[in-house]
Amino acid sequence: EEGLFTYDPGFVSTAACESQITYIDGANGVLLHRGYPIEQLAEKSDYLEVCYLLIHGELPTAEQAEEFRSTVKNHTMIHEQLRNFFNGFRRDAHPMAIMCGVVGALSAFYHDTMDFSDEHHREIAAFRLMAKMPTLAAMCYKYSTGQPFMYPRNDLDYAGNFLHMMFGTPCEPYQVNPVVAKAMDRIFVLHADHEQNASTSTVRLAGSSGANPFACIASGIAALWGPAHGGANEAVLNMLLEIGDESRIPEFIQRAKDKSDPFRLMGFGHRVYKNFDPRAKVMKQTCDDVLKELGCENDPLFRIARELERIALEDPYFVEKKLYPNVDFYSGIILRAVGIPVSMFTVIFAMARTIGWFSHWHEMVSSSYRIGRPRQLYTGHTARDYPSK
Ligand code: SDX
Repeated sequence: EEGLFTYDPGFVSTAACESQITYIDGANGVLLHRGYPIEQLAEKSDYLEVCYLLIHGELPTAEQAEEFRSTVKNHTMIHEQLRNFFNGFRRDAHPMAIMCGVVGALSAFYHDTMDFSDEHHREIAAFRLMAKMPTLAAMCYKYSTGQPFMYPRNDLDYAGNFLHMMFGTPCEPYQVNPVVAKAMDRIFVLHADHEQNASTSTVRLAGSSGANPFACIASGIAALWGPAHGGANEAVLNMLLEIGDESRIPEFIQRAKDKSDPFRLMGFGHRVYKNFDPRAKVMKQTCDDVLKELGCENDPLFRIARELERIALEDPYFVEKKLYPNVDFYSGIILRAVGIPVSMFTVIFAMARTIGWFSHWHEMVSSSYRIGRPRQLYTGHTARDYPSK
């Protein structure tokens, strides 16, 4: 065509890159982490064990698991100087904006003292990231409330410690509800990794230049923030609040089908899954369990969500386009029931996905790799001369 260069097909490199970490079969709704189905990991494992599996490729022995957990615990505190970093933000700053900044700032504390060509230093970086993300995330919430930051506690498990740092105060220790802590841990498991999605591909591309893992994870946080990606859980809650009543569901279904309307049904659809997102099924059951435990099984938003899902799954538009609930559709209802503000939902996603991002970075830098350089199909002007005056 006029103006379009012809490219040697060899130049249009396939963007996909090899990995052994996660397998997705979108047509059949299958998600495997190192070969283990997500449904079995969600039921039988826990987040730190899944972290070990994603990094090392095998489930840990009891001894390895114990050592892994205690090492994570020894890294949960942050450098006291980092606390000052928060003061540069307004109290109403979006916590994802703070996380982009603070996680990137970890490079300033560790980058100069670490050699990432050394496997032992890469492993320390993993522990520092897994351990400090909940501490930093809870600090974002505390900063927004004006309450003092809470130090981590080594007598609590991963999810319980996060809830303690979120909701505990110096005057009133937080009583961890085991059902709620288990639900939070399951949310972490369901969000841990998901193959080469937008944010993970961002981390890989940043890492391919040799950037340090803290800066790469910060780039993943930025990519995850968008409402089409990790920001969808926050967008789902805001959508359910806007719908407000089951009687208004048909109006929003109609808007989602109207091409002239930019509105999309948040929490529905997926680039890869053209069947149920297996995580959504587990999340829905977890949602049911938590709402029952907290005595809010008649939560109006949960009722709207279930009715919205029922109607959409029977609607020819959604059936024909293979649009099903994804991981973000029910997670926000659980987080809200636990008392976590909507603005923190994507931060929770980023916390959980940190191990996925790190595992992909680690897999890439642990073998020979080249800098990523996606090619383009140029559709602009052909060469032309500057007009003579
Ligand atoms: C995550 O990649 C990952 O793995 C991501 C993730 C992970 O764990 O990392 O799974 C997490 O990001 C989940 C997705 C969260 N996002 C949302 O819930 C936002 C709402 N969903 C849509 O924005 C959308 O479904 C996307 C962004 C998720 C996918 O967009 P695509 O790739 O354009 O979807 P598609 O090509 O499959 O769409 C097919 C058709 C299109 O219409 P046509 O152009 O064929 O006419 O379905 C339409 C889309 O317009 N469509 C929707 C829709 N999603 C797709 N129409 C209405 N509502 C929707 N939600």
